[in-house]
Amino acid sequence: MKVTLNNGVDMPVIGLGTVGLQGKDGEKSILTAIELGYRMIDTAQMYGNEKEVGNAILQSGINREELFITTKIHSPSNSYEKAKVAIEKSLENLKLDYIDLFLVHEPYSQSLEMYGALTEAYRDKKIRAIGISNFNQRRLDEFLRTCEVIPAVNQIESHVFYPQLNLKEYLKNKGIQTQAWAPLAGGNKSVEKQEILKKIGEKYNKIPSQVALRYLIQNEIVVIPKSSKKEHLKQNINIFDFELSIKDLESIKSLDSGKTLYEWTNHWQ
Ligand SMILES: NC(=O)c1ccc[n+]([C@@H]2O[C@H](COP(=O)([O-])OP(=O)(O)OC[C@H]3O[C@@H](n4cnc5c(N)ncnc54)[C@H](OP(=O)(O)O)[C@@H]3O)[C@@H](O)[C@H]2O)c1
Repeated sequence: MKVTLNNGVDMPVIGLGTVGLQGKDGEKSILTAIELGYRMIDTAQMYGNEKEVGNAILQSGINREELFITTKIHSPSNSYEKAKVAIEKSLENLKLDYIDLFLVHEPYSQSLEMYGALTEAYRDKKIRAIGISNFNQRRLDEFLRTCEVIPAVNQIESHVFYPQLNLKEYLKNKGIQTQAWAPLAGGNKSVEKQEILKKIGEKYNKIPSQVALRYLIQNEIVVIPKSSKKEHLKQNINIFDFELSIKDLESIKSLDSGKTLYEWTNHWQ
């Protein structure tokens, strides 16, 4: 299943998050995910694992066009010139001729300059779509006043406890696709323990994590759950043979606390 971004590029609605997937073990998990059918992989310069992603892609033997690879630049690349160098570095690390989606990782004071370098690489066809991450409505409005290309994606914290449906709607009205980081709330077991999710899952023979991911997708939010375990990787992608009812969606909405689970995101407010 795919969504079409504001520039006509198609993006899968589920991908693999890769925080912490490093070294040989990380590479193996990424390869396993591709073998299980994952076609989108989310990495970042900050995660220090672009090389592992590149190696797994090569080993998989999957045609490049079938894959959708996302990466991100962060604060060490905080100028137009540094960001240009960083883009080349990502291409080299990933061993790719082009990157599908390149994001500015956080709303830095130099985000526009960094985005300017992404925009140039986008025009040079080294990147198929460009976007941002962790921008709230205020930050986004500021950014949109001056950026030359409307971001295709904003990757934000989003899970059953803080789906940010209002921000998603706002982004949608601007033509920007929402992508959820921590779609399983970071795996701290709180999702697995939720009675509401368990009960709904029983109707469809699904576990709470699968219901939680499906909830986001049915709310038009693309998900990138991370796992290092084959069993979890299988569970997370096996969510396209059931549909939550309107009543289910309403019940799950009651879990929304309106508050981030990640205190460190507060400095972007
Ligand atoms: N843009 C940003 O600022 C930003 C910030 C954070 C994350 N991200 C991206 O978003 C991705 C996802 O976020 P995340 O990794 O923080 O959290 P997440 O995907 O919500 O949760 C990952 C955790 O859930 C566990 N898990 C996965 N599938 C499970 C299942 N089926 N049942 C039970 N537990 C399960 C994993 O453990 P196992 O490995 O043991 O399965 C792992 O500990 C990241 O990997 C990264 O690519 C971006």
